[in-house]
Amino acid sequence: MTTTSQVLQGDCAEVLQSFPDQSVDLIVTSPPYADRRKNTYGGIAPEKYVEWFLPRSAEFLRVLKPSGSFILNIKEKAENGERHTYVLELILALRQQGWLWTEEYIWHKRNCYPGKWPNRFRDAWERCLHFTKERKFTMNQEAVMVPMGDWAGSRLKSLSKNDVVRYDSQVGSGFGKNIANWLERPMAYPTNVLHLATECGNKNHSAAFPQNLPEWFIKLLSNPGDTVLDPFVGSGTTLKAAHELGRNGIGIDLSAEYCDMAREAAGKQLALMEEPAIYGQKP
Ligand SMILES: C[S@@+](CC[C@H](N)C(=O)[O-])C[C@H]1O[C@@H](n2cnc3c(N)ncnc32)[C@H](O)[C@@H]1O
Repeated sequence: MTTTSQVLQGDCAEVLQSFPDQSVDLIVTSPPYADRRKNTYGGIAPEKYVEWFLPRSAEFLRVLKPSGSFILNIKEKAENGERHTYVLELILALRQQGWLWTEEYIWHKRNCYPGKWPNRFRDAWERCLHFTKERKFTMNQEAVMVPMGDWAGSRLKSLSKNDVVRYDSQVGSGFGKNIANWLERPMAYPTNVLHLATECGNKNHSAAFPQNLPEWFIKLLSNPGDTVLDPFVGSGTTLKAAHELGRNGIGIDLSAEYCDMAREAAGKQLALMEEPAIYGQKP
């Protein structure tokens, strides 16, 4: 399947205004996290973060198809001895904006750096918030199944009576289960915790995520030929993953340098595109 990738330079709030309504199947992105350091890209103060984010997410909501999903990789820092609440406030504000907060996946960073902090332990996870427009959306659960693994050998061998027979729970909630159904199956559905190393190929960007992070969500939440948008594309990890999985990719970044990096990452086919097919801006 032939796919296209485009990288557009600018503030995603402005660039997206030229996109048609409901033209994107999936948004996977990691925006600048709130930070007081002015010299980092973004450098948005935590207490201004929601106000900064909402005009951008309004555009995401407009361009996303009703069957689409928006994956937001984000994590709040600790400040003055406690975790900042801006991500929690953002979740509430996005719900007010019209998004459904469908799920929260946890990216467990398997190889985070060792360290010692006075009030807490090293931070080994980030949020991947899953927002949708509708309760029913594209979700290919079979595409991300995992080997049953040790669980089958240990837990399943010592099934209790309640596990084996389908039953309504003892509190009469009507909730049934039949774990024994899984005994013969080699594959299971994954949990909402993704155990991924932080290593990534795009070492020229200070905050690149590993390619298997966008890959997992692209497989799960879109179909081949669909269009995946990363409005804070950085070094282009999402575009690379989209291209390799047969999806069309669109990336936006403020920085010309990162746009070049993203074009490189997405594949040489970008150079072949004289005129971008859909959105009327030169890559
Ligand atoms: C956390 S990084 C993304 C890293 C990316 N996931 C990767 O794998 O390389 C956030 C990016 O957002 C860009 N950025 C910041 N504000 C932006 C805005 N208003 N519109 C578009 N891009 C923006 C920054 O230049 C930075 O490259």
